[in-house]
Amino acid sequence: MEKKYLYVLIRSMQIQSISLGYTLSPAKFMLAPKGLNQSINKRDYNSTDVYTPEYKDISFGQKLNYVDFIKTLHKVYKNKSLKNIVLSAISEQKNYVGSGFSADVYSIPGVDKYLIRLERKHFSPGSFSKYPIISEPQNELAPNFGQYIATNNHGFFITKKVFGESHSLPNWSEKIKGIENDSSALTHKEAEYILKKITELSEFPQKSFDELSLKIQKLNKHTDCEIDIMNPNNLILNNQLQEINIIDLWYHHSDNGSTAPFNGTDSMINLMLDPLTHNQVYEKLGNNGKEKLINASKKIIQKVFIAAQKTGLTRTKNNATIIYKDFDKNANLTFAVPAYDEFLKLYHDLL
Ligand SMILES: Nc1ncnc2c1ncn2[C@@H]1O[C@H](COP(=O)(O)OP(=O)(O)OP(=O)(O)O)[C@@H](O)[C@H]1O
Ligand SMILES: [Mg+2]
Repeated sequence: MEKKYLYVLIRSMQIQSISLGYTLSPAKFMLAPKGLNQSINKRDYNSTDVYTPEYKDISFGQKLNYVDFIKTLHKVYKNKSLKNIVLSAISEQKNYVGSGFSADVYSIPGVDKYLIRLERKHFSPGSFSKYPIISEPQNELAPNFGQYIATNNHGFFITKKVFGESHSLPNWSEKIKGIENDSSALTHKEAEYILKKITELSEFPQKSFDELSLKIQKLNKHTDCEIDIMNPNNLILNNQLQEINIIDLWYHHSDNGSTAPFNGTDSMINLMLDPLTHNQVYEKLGNNGKEKLINASKKIIQKVFIAAQKTGLTRTKNNATIIYKDFDKNANLTFAVPAYDEFLKLYHDLL
């Protein structure tokens, strides 16, 4: 099998266990459904019973859950069935939002706060009507990290939408497969694009970084989810509100009950600067660009450090190293760890 497909396969295997809903450990990770709160571990996830949200809405923010989603749909689509609405939405290119390693995401016309997320390996429109859609209880104290509010356990999810723009190339996951195998995969234009994104982020005020840090602290407190630091498109920037958000939560490490050591300073830095492309970007830029990249990146690192200090988030370099090691091990590559080492060297005075 070609190397470049291996990572996708591994992520798909992980996602499969997510869809099946029980923990399984292909490597040293225990996997948990994205957007999960702790209580759900205890219930039988294979049950096809419709699960009614148990939480009283005690949120300080907007309450986003399956009940609210259904109410919104009803207002817009009257008595049209959810399945027909979904099949119609995903058939139109205008509703396409983006893709990552394993999923394609679509919006639903008239519905602002939610998105459809389809895992390519597990979702099929043909069998969609066979599986019941099950509500996912929400811990309303956890901020919006794009958690899912419902799933059919066969690759279909409704997620909370996060407003803003993804932080990297739209086809990042395709690109990275190329970079794994061919060091010239990133073009100069793409390097400039990533530089622009990093520069824009570096100009966000300290407050934006502080708020993200606070959200991560709440995520650690109220869920057992881990931030997926691999894909920088999991960082969503709202330029208008100068808000930084993260989507796409995944597994947590089995041998530690708390995610606090995993979601922290380096989760932010790695999503913001993307160690997997960073050195490539640096190499592709001219001297002027190189200087801009280093300066903007240092600015970001410093703002993250200040934010983390204010909110008590800890360094998570070790966890990042484990993730990159695991990526390489599972894909039989030596790509991510050296890329991360190079990245750390470039900022050795700070990191
Ligand atoms: N909740 C959300 N709010 C806003 N945009 C989203 C949301 N979920 C997904 N997107 C967009 O769709 C893209 C793909 O979604 P997602 O990250 O869920 O896919 P994935 O295959 O799991 O990604 P990864 O490569 O990180 O594993 C994202 O990069 C982002 O651009
Ligand atoms: Mg993603």
